[in-house]
Amino acid sequence: MTYELKKIAIVGAGGKMGMRISNNLQHSRYNVAYCENSPRAREQIIAAGRELAVTDEVVAHADVVILAVPDVALETVSGFVVPQMKNGAILLTLDPAASYAGLLAQRDGIHQAVAHPCHPSVFLERTTKEEYADAFGGNAAIQDVCAAFESGNDKQRSELAEIIGVMYGPVGEVHWVTVKQLAYLEPTLVETVACMVGSFMKEALDETINRIGVPEAAAKAMLYGHIQIALAVAFRSTNPFSDACLIAIDYGREQIIKPDWKKIFDEKELDLIIARMLKIDAVRKADAA
Ligand SMILES: NC(=O)c1ccc[n+]([C@@H]2O[C@H](COP(=O)([O-])OP(=O)(O)OC[C@H]3O[C@@H](n4cnc5c(N)ncnc54)[C@H](O)[C@@H]3O)[C@@H](O)[C@H]2O)c1
Repeated sequence: MTYELKKIAIVGAGGKMGMRISNNLQHSRYNVAYCENSPRAREQIIAAGRELAVTDEVVAHADVVILAVPDVALETVSGFVVPQMKNGAILLTLDPAASYAGLLAQRDGIHQAVAHPCHPSVFLERTTKEEYADAFGGNAAIQDVCAAFESGNDKQRSELAEIIGVMYGPVGEVHWVTVKQLAYLEPTLVETVACMVGSFMKEALDETINRIGVPEAAAKAMLYGHIQIALAVAFRSTNPFSDACLIAIDYGREQIIKPDWKKIFDEKELDLIIARMLKIDAVRKADAA
């Protein structure tokens, strides 16, 4: 296969995601330019053995420009970068919010893509210490990626999948979805629900220790083991919940969950949470005009 996507420019290469994906792309077959405007982040790039590049000088030659800048800066940064990109190039962002909200600068001939890491599955079979230590992914534990690429051709899509496989590697599968579906995955499914439940469980743990006085080690041992079994039963049906547990689950739902909670899947609610995250008044969608 002859590769068309060879030159990559990373804007925001010294940030959290910029550093992660740069570490993986640095020794790959791609020709990568690292752009960053914060002095501290620039130092990090140099300390990692990478050379800094000037955004203005490299984006015009890049086949793929990765914007690893904060979501609230994507409108401004894409407005500056997209007019300079070459025809046929791909603008790749790492989160669907700005794309879904219509904040990214558009130009005929410039394709847009979004790729978000899934993080290694809680059900992943890990065998090495490094895999166990890699909660985020991108280092030793295999993870999937959900990505959107709604224009462009199949060749670009498969080359993009290879780039995504390197930058977030080790990667199992790249799942192609629409930008809207990706927005329902994150924030709705994984942040509004899963991350909220995770931080809620931490609060319940603190309450058990601080208010009830249960020894911390006992409370943690009991909770961590039960998180594992609750997920195994709920998602994998490894065994049924006991009859008493089902009664306690019903009581928990009545006391904690609002009956209309599924409204978070209404498009209106998705638009509201995305606008709130991006600190804008409202999302701008073509069909909302
Ligand atoms: N942090 C995460 O866990 C995570 C996970 C998945 C996706 N993402 C996505 O990755 C993207 C980046 O997030 P982050 O958490 O790495 O942000 P960050 O704040 O850690 O880093 C952003 C970097 O961009 C730089 N920057 C800002 N404007 C710039 C410009 N005009 N030119 C060059 N550099 C510029 C900043 O100096 C900073 O170093 C966002 O879209 C975010 O949603 C983040």
